[in-house]
Amino acid sequence: MSQAAKQASATHTDIHADRVLILDFGSQYTQLIARRVRECGAYSEIHPWDMDDDALRAWQPKGIVLSGGPESVTIERTPKVSQAVFDLGVPVLGICYGMQTMVAQLGGEVETHSHREFGYAEIHASSSRLLEGLSDAPDESPTPLLKVWMSHGDRVAVAPKGFRVIASSANSPLAAIEDPERHYYGVQFHPEVTHTPKGQEIIRRFVRDICGCAGDWTAENIVDDAIAEVRRQVGSGKVLLGLSGGVDSSVVAALLHRAIGDRLICVFVDHGLMRAGEGDQVMETFAEHLGVNVIRVDAAERFFKALARVSDPEEKRKTIGRLFVEVFEEEALKLEDVDWLAQGTIYPDVIESAGASTGKAHVIKSHHNVGGLPENMRMNLVEPLRELFKDEVRKIGLELGLPSEIVHRHPFPGPGLGVRVLGEVRREFVQLLRHADRIFIDELHKHDLYDKTSQAFAVFLPVRSVGVMGDGRRYDYVIALRAVETIDFMTARWARLPYEFLERVSLRIINEIDGISRVTYDISGKPPATIEWE
Ligand code: XMP
Repeated sequence: MSQAAKQASATHTDIHADRVLILDFGSQYTQLIARRVRECGAYSEIHPWDMDDDALRAWQPKGIVLSGGPESVTIERTPKVSQAVFDLGVPVLGICYGMQTMVAQLGGEVETHSHREFGYAEIHASSSRLLEGLSDAPDESPTPLLKVWMSHGDRVAVAPKGFRVIASSANSPLAAIEDPERHYYGVQFHPEVTHTPKGQEIIRRFVRDICGCAGDWTAENIVDDAIAEVRRQVGSGKVLLGLSGGVDSSVVAALLHRAIGDRLICVFVDHGLMRAGEGDQVMETFAEHLGVNVIRVDAAERFFKALARVSDPEEKRKTIGRLFVEVFEEEALKLEDVDWLAQGTIYPDVIESAGASTGKAHVIKSHHNVGGLPENMRMNLVEPLRELFKDEVRKIGLELGLPSEIVHRHPFPGPGLGVRVLGEVRREFVQLLRHADRIFIDELHKHDLYDKTSQAFAVFLPVRSVGVMGDGRRYDYVIALRAVETIDFMTARWARLPYEFLERVSLRIINEIDGISRVTYDISGKPPATIEWE
């Protein structure tokens, strides 16, 4: 919807009015900048650095942030922002490369310095609206200093006319600069990363004090806005949603139920590859507690039949995906007058597919979620989470009254336990795995470790290993435990779980599950290993 139409239809706070534009030069932290701006209460969007001038003006930003990036302004033909950015007359904050290009474009000088700076640095700040009074120094210290995260080869040598230096470090005499007249700011360090302890406050000052954004982007307002927008979009129509038990589809269900009540129909395809108790929990949360209209289809038998003798991972994924669409479609065809299909697309999906289509994305996701739109289903799409980051989806999930267990659940792949039983997926293997997985997850919760890992699960290995139980030898299967810490799931580090904890999980699994004789812990990082084993 256009900004004007949004304003016209809004009977509530216009949460998109105060908006900050992020122009992306390809930094790995660009999404983090957008999230930090939103945490300050202002809507933000990421656009490529060469965004069209008309689109830029039409977007009507209250402020602009130029991201960092891998390029050097000291070579020829480097990415530059359009002059339109400076002609708009709104505050601009350049971060790292964003600062350097601003400096180079406005008449200053950037140099390649022999001493590259990566990691922690300390800067000394003088008075400015951006940094004044901020300090990480101990209370008794006479001089304030800020701890910041640096990651750069080039540095600013001469600031453009009108600018003054507001912070310096040993290696970057011009670590931060400002033009107080035009409200242009440049920081060599990264305020968006948590390694810069006062970074969020610096971004808040830019967004709220300097750009003047009111702070209306809150979970409560986002929910109100999304509800109004869904009602406007679907009118008196009925909406179909594939509910999977994952965070995104759960939040869509809660939101649409609030917006249109009984005109939301959810189909939950239970493929028999869910974790222990998950299917029942979906029904309990949505059908029983929230009163959502949910059709549960028990399709396990069909899935196991189709998966018999299929052991190639991609073949398994395809089989599960195809069957899922078939079952979902069959249910949809039984319904009458449904012309809307809801999907849990979130903002990073939108950015990634936009990047993929323009060839600018650095990483392109290779999997498709089970439950994607069947190609021959002619329905209009409603995607109420399209503008939101995952952490915002979680916040509005809580705001809508969903239990924390669902909202803070680790991600689970669409093909479910199908890709965690290596090789052929047999019902009895899935049962063994489900049991082991439940023990692992229960213990993580009990030891307060679940929220400290990003994703944790058990994997079933169809190989037999020898064990001794009592007086007898036995050849039973192996369970591998996997737990990772990650921010974006593109790279991951194996979680350093305590040995005593791992010992307890291993003992429980071997003692309680007849059929498992050995437990291993996966210590592979991503890359080179992936998070899932298949
Ligand atoms: P990998 O294994 O590629 O996983 O390191 C990265 C993240 O994606 C999830 N994943 C999937 N999600 N369908 C999905 O919906 C899939 O086929 C699939 N495979 C992996 C994985 O759980 C992790 O969070």
